[in-house]
Amino acid sequence: MSLFAAGRFPAYRPRRLRQSPVLRALVRETQLDPAHLVLPLFVRSGRKLRRPIGAMPGVCQLSPDELVKEAAQAAEAGVPAVLLFGIPDRKDAKASGAYARNGIVQQAVRLLKQELPGLLVITDVCLCEYMDHGHCGLVRREARGARILNDPTLKLLARTAASHAEAGADVVAPSDMMDGRVRAIRQELDRLGFSETPIMSYAAKFASAFYGPFREAAESAPRFGDRRSYQMDAANAAEALREVALDIEEGADIVMVKPALAYLDIIHRVKTRFGYPTAAYAVSAEHAMIKAAAAQGWIDEQAVTLESLLAMRRAGADILITYAATDVARWLRRK
Ligand code: PBG
Repeated sequence: MSLFAAGRFPAYRPRRLRQSPVLRALVRETQLDPAHLVLPLFVRSGRKLRRPIGAMPGVCQLSPDELVKEAAQAAEAGVPAVLLFGIPDRKDAKASGAYARNGIVQQAVRLLKQELPGLLVITDVCLCEYMDHGHCGLVRREARGARILNDPTLKLLARTAASHAEAGADVVAPSDMMDGRVRAIRQELDRLGFSETPIMSYAAKFASAFYGPFREAAESAPRFGDRRSYQMDAANAAEALREVALDIEEGADIVMVKPALAYLDIIHRVKTRFGYPTAAYAVSAEHAMIKAAAAQGWIDEQAVTLESLLAMRRAGADILITYAATDVARWLRRK
């Protein structure tokens, strides 16, 4: 029923409060601030390397020295945190590079914490970039096709998260969608003395066509099959709440919804139901669509980007993970 059904507020004229920028700011319900932003970055071995990613204008695979430069620019603009993805030199069937003591992410974390100690470093914990087959878990080939093995994968994920924490990661972010991984990671972190390291879990991560450009960036496209046996069906909202409940029970400190813009209903339900710190990941194709339309001159890049992020905040997201974080922080500063 409408608030006005009984004609209780006959004198209410909404435009009274839209007359000036000052009035509009006074009654604005949602704020967008650089403090909410996280910038995803891709690191691979090398020196002075900036390898552009085709479908993600402005985003590059970076060697560690260039990574520090990029992160420093983000920090300078006011971005408080980065989310690291690694591309290893070699991939295998047990994702050795993911948990190698001197793996690419582990090296990058040490360097970032040394060069930019004030910057929060979050690491993506997944195996797909390190697997020769590109899946997020161990694979057993069977007559009827391949199966992704859940429980044997947990040990590797826990090892990966622990190796990131050992290198100095401030937060670990499992994105694999295996059942039980938050508990396995929490136990391993606690066992090794990292009980203060928070877990940001990709709790409601959907099997999405919006990840297309990322798979080029992380060189992590599955060689066969797809991720539908572990990532969520785009049609399901109640299940997303069960996934989030499970991750919270297992020890997640921050829960994430991914993708963001096409899943605002999920963000809203997750925030309303659990009241937990909630992150929204504006994924690679969200970025690509805005960039492509802007390059054509069809949309205003800055306005569309800010409006999209504001919508995620309005839906209930506390944290915004976006490839545009540095630009956004600069735009917000100038406003
Ligand atoms: C790894 C991972 C993916 C993304 C983040 N972590 C890809 C996938 O699940 O296929 C996607 C991010 C993006 O599209 O920007 N599992």
